[in-house]
Amino acid sequence: GIPKCVKIVEVGPRDGLQNEKNVVPTSVKVELIRRLVSSGLSVVEATSFVSPKWVPQLADAKDVMEAVRNVEGARLPVLTPNLKGFEAAVAAGAKEVAIFASASESFSKSNINCSIEESLARYRAVAQAAEKLSIPVRGYVSCVVGCPVEGAISPSKVAHVAKELHDMGCFEISLGDTIGVGTPGNVLPMLEAVMAVVPVEKLAVHFHDTYGQSLPNILVSLQMGISTVDSSIAGLGGCPYAKGASGNVATEDVVYMLHGLGVKTNVDIWKLLQAGEFISKYLGRPSGSKTAIALSRV
Ligand code: HMG
Ligand code: MG
Repeated sequence: GIPKCVKIVEVGPRDGLQNEKNVVPTSVKVELIRRLVSSGLSVVEATSFVSPKWVPQLADAKDVMEAVRNVEGARLPVLTPNLKGFEAAVAAGAKEVAIFASASESFSKSNINCSIEESLARYRAVAQAAEKLSIPVRGYVSCVVGCPVEGAISPSKVAHVAKELHDMGCFEISLGDTIGVGTPGNVLPMLEAVMAVVPVEKLAVHFHDTYGQSLPNILVSLQMGISTVDSSIAGLGGCPYAKGASGNVATEDVVYMLHGLGVKTNVDIWKLLQAGEFISKYLGRPSGSKTAIALSRV
């Protein structure tokens, strides 16, 4: 059966805004995070402490984190690619971090400029530093079904990286279809391979919606017992190092489906819609959420 409660990990302020052509002002990011938290989301990924040369959109990570560090009601994790990022995140007040590896060697190179094994060694250092400070670490695996360079990725590679992240102490492993090429046809065998090495309670799914497959992919993931789903307000986003990839599945659409299934999320969809409207208006384009567009007419 499908889980009774699902935790949504909102990634819009990070995965969404990292891919905007124009840099969004810090004050708009902070207001977006506040609105997302007040809609009832229990986890809102706030920003990334990555190189500003690689991701100029999030160069204000310190200012964003300092402005939201005392916001109550939600956890506000940030991405940290190495010890330098981890230390900066902690100094700015981050209480939870995420590390991000890839199941594809080529994507690892283009995204974080090192091999998969090198990245795992780096992340072990981050995980150890985090453990000393009792900071929970989430682990991402990118390219879990496909890579922009290598094409199809075998489930065993994904399982290998997921297990490594789990072994180094990640409390949760998010499986990312970075370029949104997956369908239930290849997502299912990938999940089976990962579930053989990491307990299902520790898994999350992270779908980009390039081919419109996110909702069916989420539904099969729920049927497999996964109860943590990543999504992005108004479907914002993409990935700067995965050309052509569109945003994450829209949070509004995920919440609409979950509530339709009778699954509890603790999210107030009307407040969520207002948060989506706020950022879509700022960006000057229609929401990427079909639910938001439909409900704005009623
Ligand atoms: P590098 O150039 O190999 O780094 O980048 P380096 O260690 O050689 O250092 C070069 C310079 O960067 C130095 O500065 C460092 O201090 C600086 P310089 O001496 O030249 O002035 N530096 C940093 N500055 C700030 N914060 C840091 C940091 N580290 C080094 N943390 C690095 C390697 C990993 C840093 C770089 O490639 C990077 O920042 N990559 C991040 C890319 C990124 O954020 N991608 C998007 C997130 S992943 C994603 O979206 C997928 C996901 O959503 C899941 C899915 O969809 O599948 C999670
Ligand atoms: Mg992503």
